[in-house]
Amino acid sequence: MKDKKEIEEKIFLDPWGSVLIEDYTKLLAEFGIEPFTNVLDFVPNPHRFMRRNIIFGHRDYQRIAQAIREQMPFAVMSGFMPSGKAHFGNKMVMEEIIWHQKSGGDAYVGIADMEAHSVRGISWNTCKQLGIEEYVLNIIALGLEEGAIIYFQSRSRDVRDLAFELGIEANFSELKGIYGFSGETTISHMVSVIVQCADILMPQLGKYDGPKPVVVPVGPDQDPHLRLTRDLATRTRLFSIERKDSYIRVRSRRNPELLKPLASIFETAKVKIYEGHIDVYGIEPEKADVEIRKFELKHGGTGFILPSSTYHRFMSGLTGGKMSSSNPESYIAMNEKPDEGYKKIMRAKTGGRVTVEEQRKLGGVPESCSVYEMLLFHLVEDDKELAEIYSECRGGRRICGTCKKETAERLSIFLKNLAEGREEARERLKEYHIIM
Ligand code: TRP
Ligand code: SF4
Repeated sequence: MKDKKEIEEKIFLDPWGSVLIEDYTKLLAEFGIEPFTNVLDFVPNPHRFMRRNIIFGHRDYQRIAQAIREQMPFAVMSGFMPSGKAHFGNKMVMEEIIWHQKSGGDAYVGIADMEAHSVRGISWNTCKQLGIEEYVLNIIALGLEEGAIIYFQSRSRDVRDLAFELGIEANFSELKGIYGFSGETTISHMVSVIVQCADILMPQLGKYDGPKPVVVPVGPDQDPHLRLTRDLATRTRLFSIERKDSYIRVRSRRNPELLKPLASIFETAKVKIYEGHIDVYGIEPEKADVEIRKFELKHGGTGFILPSSTYHRFMSGLTGGKMSSSNPESYIAMNEKPDEGYKKIMRAKTGGRVTVEEQRKLGGVPESCSVYEMLLFHLVEDDKELAEIYSECRGGRRICGTCKKETAERLSIFLKNLAEGREEARERLKEYHIIM
């Protein structure tokens, strides 16, 4: 009993729970997620989520920013669980995938039917139907281009094989430590975890042109999966490199007998061979990294580069509190009828005052207004225009009634266009590479 409580206190990120993450700064400190503001200046034409600090954190994003700037190969990958309606939280991930694709990355979209089936009990048929109608059609309607690889986990032999391979490196104690799994957790739930790790590493397989930086845009609840994936990626490597002041030290946990042959690839650099490691002098670590990875790939290693990730703030619910799939009033679905969306905004909780007089005198509180949040996250692209709305609200020059109407109008136009986009996408579905 005590054990369980300790576990519950320790885990504060639960991928299958529905915690509202209140304190994002704590998250940064506790799990080693870096503030996104550290890399923002290196990103060409940042997405509005980046500019507005809605994407608040990252791991290793500098690698991605560099690949974008230097037009080097990289990929973006994320997954969607087809367990219900796609909502505006999912739309955020979709936009992030599309933005990276347009910035030069290869895009991978996973439909997590194995997770939905094993963890949520959704039938395979429903997974397929929701996968297409809610996720695939919407991401194409939002602008995903043909080059993307879209797949259902259960239909991808590559993902399933890689998952099996990664499973060799992970044991039950570890999953228990990360997710609080117990003796009651089903095997297939655990399998779905390792499949998600495979989703994230698949873009680096030889078949997909080998190791490359990959960014995974997600909400912070998914971070445990990223930490596990990064650990597993490290363990599949044949070599590890440690930077010292004037040299690099290379070790091999799996195949120490390969260190000697490895030593001979460094033509100009001076190499000292020891029992269990080699030290290489006079070589740039970046260059050594590239050479060692090439050698590793020839000798059956994965050469995986640690995946990068970004983390966005969650939207709060339209009714106050959190968005919840069990309360349709709390969120806007991507497939919402435009007039339904309109009505939901008109009924939403605002940061307004009790009377119009008070509003004029004191101003509204956009920070605690779900209508403002819709504008901030989704409906106003132009930063100046948004700033204008913000200061009008604060200054009491904006009144909730008209503000809601205006927002509801923007939303219903967006939903109408999106529905048309889905029908066009349906026509063009054959032009996409979909593994299903
Ligand atoms: N577990 C994710 C969710 O519940 C979905 C997912 C599956 C995913 N595979 C992924 C997310 C790979 C990011 C990367 O939403
Ligand atoms: Fe929210 Fe608009 Fe009212 Fe301000 S005026 S509190 S932004 S609904």
